[in-house]
Amino acid sequence: GKVAVLMGGKSAEREISLLSGGGVLTALQSKGVDAHAFDPAERDLSELKRDGFQRCFIALHGRFGEDGTVQGALELLGIPYTGSGVMASAISIDKVMTKRVWLAEGVPTPKYQLLRRGAYSHEQVIRIPDELGLPLIVKPAREGSSIGVAKVQGYSEVQAAVDAAAALDADVLCEQFVSGDEVTCPILGTGDGARALPVIRIVAPEGNYDYNNKYFTDDTKYLVPCGLPAGEEAAIQELVVKAYRVLGCRGWGRIDVMIDAATRKPSLLEINTSPGMTGHSLVPMSARAAGISYEDLCVMLLADATL
Ligand code: DAL
Ligand code: MG
Repeated sequence: GKVAVLMGGKSAEREISLLSGGGVLTALQSKGVDAHAFDPAERDLSELKRDGFQRCFIALHGRFGEDGTVQGALELLGIPYTGSGVMASAISIDKVMTKRVWLAEGVPTPKYQLLRRGAYSHEQVIRIPDELGLPLIVKPAREGSSIGVAKVQGYSEVQAAVDAAAALDADVLCEQFVSGDEVTCPILGTGDGARALPVIRIVAPEGNYDYNNKYFTDDTKYLVPCGLPAGEEAAIQELVVKAYRVLGCRGWGRIDVMIDAATRKPSLLEINTSPGMTGHSLVPMSARAAGISYEDLCVMLLADATL
């Protein structure tokens, strides 16, 4: 039956989603799937039903797509979709809620403080480095692709970074910076069937894996095989599968991890429940290293679409 590739949407990651969705659409069509692009920013989701779509591949990123809202609408319409359900999507989009679940389940994640827009004072903000050290990271709680993320080097920079993040989200996450190896690990499957793909190590120019270095330069190096000792890679894979399961994720995801250079201990930063599928994206890169082509990956994910 007809498949809609949901792409675009109205989040700050719209442009990235169009790249992801374009790749997925072409891949599914090349495999003989009757797939069509559908942009929820341009058309009402109720038209999916009217137009006879029987399944959805969600290639939306960020809010109104990766956050449980579209998933909830599809539940109401009765149209199976790829990836996590409503609750896991809603928790996973929120880096603070994700940390709370992980901490309760013994999954390591960097120390943090949460600030709420309109409810923080300069006196409070300026003391954050006392707790978290310097440098520290400031992020909107519910953005992706490093949008609004700042690495704060000194006391004088904290206020501006917090205000900038608060302009994008009512919740601002201030997080301890972990200095060391930056890695990411995709997970495929659901529940007991969830398994990790190969870990990718990211070496960005000056350690700065920002929006531009993620998608628009070729200066970032991606190492797969990651070059970590085999035991370290296996431990990370085991940890991310646990972290994925405790959130109740489904289908696929990708967890970003820092490995402390001094202690070699991994700390989980966040999970992406609708990971990028662009030409620069990491799930396809890792899948390829495991012998799964981009096209086969898309078909596999679609085959697991559920309600
Ligand atoms: N948020 C982007 C799309 C990713 O994690 O791949
Ligand atoms: Mg993310």
